[in-house]
Amino acid sequence: MNKKLRKAVIAGNWKMNKTRPEAFDLIEAIKPLAANADCEVVVCVPFTNLETAVNAVKGTNIRVGAQNCHFEKSGAFTGEISADMLAELGVEYVVLGHSERRQYFAETDETVNKRLKAALAAGLKPIVCVGELLWERECGITDEVLGKQCKLDFYGISADDMRKTVIAYEPVWAIGTGKTATAEQAEEACAYIRSVIAKLFGKDVADAVTVQYGGSMNAKNAAELLSKENVDGGLIGGASLKAPDFGEIIKAANG
Ligand code: 13P
Repeated sequence: MNKKLRKAVIAGNWKMNKTRPEAFDLIEAIKPLAANADCEVVVCVPFTNLETAVNAVKGTNIRVGAQNCHFEKSGAFTGEISADMLAELGVEYVVLGHSERRQYFAETDETVNKRLKAALAAGLKPIVCVGELLWERECGITDEVLGKQCKLDFYGISADDMRKTVIAYEPVWAIGTGKTATAEQAEEACAYIRSVIAKLFGKDVADAVTVQYGGSMNAKNAAELLSKENVDGGLIGGASLKAPDFGEIIKAANG
């Protein structure tokens, strides 16, 4: 990453893992590993763990994120959680448009865009996930897919709000598969995403915006991925559930 322009954001996406006592223990184990980090450290935990996490990180440099929010402020949306509810809890970040939500829960660019606007209005820092399927990469349309997702997901937001938004480049074929994008592939895609943001919002915003890589990032490959100019951190699934591994990734970002 380019440390002169941006600060790395290392975020764990715990997905549907950990009960409250387990979440508490994992955060306790992460605390000393994050204590001297010069990157932003975030744990994105299941809804049921948010209050536990917010209390556990008090007085530390660890931030708490949720993994989704609804786009309406309130109402008859059984099972959903609003951005205001998260903000009131003390949650700072929210992951939006993760490929698992797109794949299993019919999330579309249109609803990601609506959720993004709701999250920003509530004062949350969104982490918006974009990324191509293996089939799309093989067909040579990775740039088109990323460009389309960025145009639709970030439609109608202000330049100031874009600056507050973290983008996570997560190639779908690299998620949970153990197949990491090469550092070159990650750099190429993150740089392309930044060029799209430059066209839409101007170079200053593009230089300031954080573009993470996500997809089988781990203690071994993090340093190489994070050494790339346009890779400003990571959104980490499996390896964020093991404190020593997550700690190694934080160290790599400090690098
Ligand atoms: P893995 O690190 O388990 O591949 O998951 C990546 C991811 O989806 C983070 O949001």
